[in-house]
Amino acid sequence: MAQSTETAYQKCINPACAAEFDCRQTIFKCPQCGDLLDIQYNWDKIEVPGKLSDFGRRWATRDNRLDFSGVWRFRELLNFCPDEYRVSIGEGQTILQQNDRIAEYLEIDKGCLYLQYEGLNPSGSFKDNGMTAAFSHAMMVGAKSCACASTGNTSASVALYAHSCGLKCTVFIGSGRIAFGKLSQAMDYGAQTIQIKGDFDDCMKQVQDVCVKLNLYLLNSLNPFRLEGQKTIMYRIIEQFGWQVPDWIVVPGGNLGNSSSFGKAFMELKQLGLINKIPRLAIVNATGADTLTELVNAKNLKWNNGNIDQTIIDKYYKVLTESNFSPHTCASAIEISRPVNLKKCLRAIDVCEGVVLAVTDEEICDAKALIGKYGLGCEPASAATIAGLKHLRDHGVIDADEKIACILTGHVLKDPNVTVNYHKNNEGLFSNPPVECDNNLDEIIKLISDD
Ligand code: F0G
Repeated sequence: MAQSTETAYQKCINPACAAEFDCRQTIFKCPQCGDLLDIQYNWDKIEVPGKLSDFGRRWATRDNRLDFSGVWRFRELLNFCPDEYRVSIGEGQTILQQNDRIAEYLEIDKGCLYLQYEGLNPSGSFKDNGMTAAFSHAMMVGAKSCACASTGNTSASVALYAHSCGLKCTVFIGSGRIAFGKLSQAMDYGAQTIQIKGDFDDCMKQVQDVCVKLNLYLLNSLNPFRLEGQKTIMYRIIEQFGWQVPDWIVVPGGNLGNSSSFGKAFMELKQLGLINKIPRLAIVNATGADTLTELVNAKNLKWNNGNIDQTIIDKYYKVLTESNFSPHTCASAIEISRPVNLKKCLRAIDVCEGVVLAVTDEEICDAKALIGKYGLGCEPASAATIAGLKHLRDHGVIDADEKIACILTGHVLKDPNVTVNYHKNNEGLFSNPPVECDNNLDEIIKLISDD
């Protein structure tokens, strides 16, 4: 197989710059213009299977650690480093659950609604798909220490991969902004945890400066290698649809890494002739952190072949700064107002004929409980998908007979506080509070029988 430096390179997404860099460089942003970097491939130097179903053969050789990984099983489609550097802790063993009960509630035809449960990853969220790729790059460039800013899941995943790769690890979190399940993981996996008096956007800014000053390897989704790993979520969905693409992908939007990587995945598969149809993408914000929705729907911000109108973004961020805006939502994972992958996400919207919308915390909590009742359970941010889907069905954007895959990004146990508070206060559509009872057999039997 061709060596990684021949097969892949980094490229600035700004068409006016389009500078290219070797994959062995650790830069994260274009050193020439400061824009985002993409990983590009010399496909003619890679032996890409002739059809997607050829990847299915690797199920038979699962004793090979790379064939077992739900990310590296598709390694020809993210071929930026040689096998020897590829890290795996068994990520990507996730499932696509067909869910007719939730479909019925949303007036979607039987057999059309699917939940892609990324909570089954080793650290309990989709982040592991990206970390396995980024840590492989970190090993290739000989990184010794790493860092990230996080609303929780990135820090949990980084901490887990860092200790299995032997890297020192520092995570930045906003004080009081992180769900306990996630904080407990970062501490337990041995990360140095720095709580900044501020929100995620403040942490994101600090970590970039710290990484440059101290030469730490940055693991936020600004890192283009991370997004390469996250493409495989789409490959596994296609695999579970019998190597077909669905009509819609619905995903929560925070820092916009997932949506960006999904768009890139489909763009590349189409270019390679491995799919003939690109699904549509719906990206769902929380109303308390709805920068993407505002910029796209209200201010008409567009990809425009990469010639993005920066003044629209600058103006909007200026207003946020001047009003001291800090995002707020119970879906703390997506409590972000300056998403770093905004521009790549605009490209994904363009490629996938995407739609963007925002849902309230109340809608998120009800949707979360619905998923818990009939599905596999998930954390609040993940439930934005079903809450958003309800809007899209109500407004006729998605038809009842279209095949839809919602990405459940994180495990239900990540944020037990939101779950318990929702059920205990008994005001939600699906609240299921515990019933108090004396320590008395007759009373217990009466309670159960009356139910
Ligand atoms: N869902 C969950 C559970 C998340 O943890 C995140 C992001 C998202 C959705 C949003 O994904 O950034 O790709 O749009 N969490 C990051 C973190 C920001 O620090 O853990 P995105």
